[in-house]
Amino acid sequence: MKITSKQLRNKWLSFYEGKGHVNIGAVSLIGDGSTGVMFNVAGMQPLMPYLLGKKHPSGKTRLCNVQGCVRTVDIDAVGDASHFTFFEMMGNWSLGDYFKKEKTAWTFELLTEVFGLEGEKLCSTVFEGNERVPRDEETAELLKGLGIKPEHVFYLPKSDNWWELEGTVGTPCGPDNEWFYPVAENANFPDGYVEIGNDVYMQYRKTESGYEPLENKNVDTGFGLDRMLLFLNGLDDGYKTDLFLPVVAKLESLSGKSYDADEEARKAMRIVADHTRTTVMLIGDVNGILPSNTGAGYILRRLMRRAIRYCRSLGIASEAMCDCAKIFIEEVYDEAYPLLREKEAYVLDEIRKEAERFEATLEKGIREFDKCVAGIVRKNEFMKKSDPAYVAETVIGGKQAFRLYDTYGFPLELTEELAAEQGYTVDRAGFDAAFKEHQEKSKVVAKGEYKGGLESHSETAVKYHTATHLLNAALKTVLSPECNQKGSNITDERMRFDFNFERPMTADEIAAVEALVNEKIGENLPVVYREMSLDEARAEGFVGVFDSKYGDVVKTYSIGEFSKEMCGGPHVERTGLLGKFRIVKEQSSSAGVRRIKAVLE
Ligand code: ALA
Repeated sequence: MKITSKQLRNKWLSFYEGKGHVNIGAVSLIGDGSTGVMFNVAGMQPLMPYLLGKKHPSGKTRLCNVQGCVRTVDIDAVGDASHFTFFEMMGNWSLGDYFKKEKTAWTFELLTEVFGLEGEKLCSTVFEGNERVPRDEETAELLKGLGIKPEHVFYLPKSDNWWELEGTVGTPCGPDNEWFYPVAENANFPDGYVEIGNDVYMQYRKTESGYEPLENKNVDTGFGLDRMLLFLNGLDDGYKTDLFLPVVAKLESLSGKSYDADEEARKAMRIVADHTRTTVMLIGDVNGILPSNTGAGYILRRLMRRAIRYCRSLGIASEAMCDCAKIFIEEVYDEAYPLLREKEAYVLDEIRKEAERFEATLEKGIREFDKCVAGIVRKNEFMKKSDPAYVAETVIGGKQAFRLYDTYGFPLELTEELAAEQGYTVDRAGFDAAFKEHQEKSKVVAKGEYKGGLESHSETAVKYHTATHLLNAALKTVLSPECNQKGSNITDERMRFDFNFERPMTADEIAAVEALVNEKIGENLPVVYREMSLDEARAEGFVGVFDSKYGDVVKTYSIGEFSKEMCGGPHVERTGLLGKFRIVKEQSSSAGVRRIKAVLE
């Protein structure tokens, strides 16, 4: 390796620190919902308020960092040499401070002097202009002045040289200057060149109808660390950098298969490695999430189940994901993401749990899937015999896909992938219809059950009681697995819930807890009562006071996979009955203990 990932991160940061920038560090990968995207997809995303003119809390106008990003639009493309669901963006920003002159000079200096690229080989593209924004002659002239050959500066339209977050309004955006370097012999731009990064001149705000100028002229720079690492080391396969090498080696030794020699195994190893890395980052994040059936949790589940399936195709147990996760946490990202180390046991445990859940049904689900295909094949053969002009059917029914989802835990996309491997597609609309029908049904059932269930307890108090279990689990997910219930008090109007935590919750954390509880209510999960021995309860991960006062047999309630508590009840039968959960107040209760007041509306 000419340069390691750790060296590259450090070089980037120290170069910009040398130019007066302050390293603001990376923030959570989980979006705050303000832009409508679930995950942080660009280094600038958390900085949008400051690019729009708000003063940055650091008080500085020159910032830099290396920010993790998750982009999941191309999950299905992962498996080749260049698609990843997680990557790191090396960034630096001017908040109304320096502009094009300094920025072009610094990028040129960094590339040529720090990374040793040849200035005469660099190519650069700038915005060609349109009716709203003029052609970027200024940048073009600056580039030529630095030593970039005039014939290496290209003017391109908005589709190439304009940067904005797609599908958003009110966000900062602007023309960009992209940097390219040849990687092939006799490269002729753009063939044989790679894009290594871009400087965006963010001086506009996107509106409903167009763009309006911002008061500040900002710079937003993004260079992908993974890609730059690849190309600085003269490699063309992203899994050959030090970010993945030890993980691939592990998968090779576990499976006894060769990454280089076995094409099918190579694809599987890439998928397991990429998806495991993203899983680690999402569960191990400060606002870590867990696999679930909706929203961001569903994307995570898709990634995890896809990885589990590919472990199976490599002939290895899904425990391999834990082995890979350990390498990412302990060797690859130990310096850049020390929090992962703190959450290691928790992350590994959650991976194991999801693997157990899915493996219990994966085998049967695949058999079920094979049966669907066999049925279609038989039908096609039969029809063909009686009618030679018959066009073979190649669509797997929506109801069948829903059955695979509901009974065997197959994300729709997994069924689609299995189908595609055999030349079939899935009836998505049919799946959606089956899904809706099922939801309607469970709502009706839940209402009916509820009526019969309660006698001596006020209905509202029972609802609040179930809500405390959801809140307890949500706090463990959002804040820390170490959070435990310290007390609770329920009236017909509200609930109060005390738990250990060292500091006030932030507004984002409160919103996230509220959203997670409401998500679980929306899923209409069954609340299941079981009696078992204390040891069993402990082994199955039930929480509560493990105290002899419970005696040998304990009463437990689990809510889907989300909450498991020892508790005497009573509870509602399904979470869908709770209505909307809202946190009214979060305050201190005593030293190290916080108190939440919440209502169901
Ligand atoms: N926001 C720019 C990008 O993501 C720098 O490429």
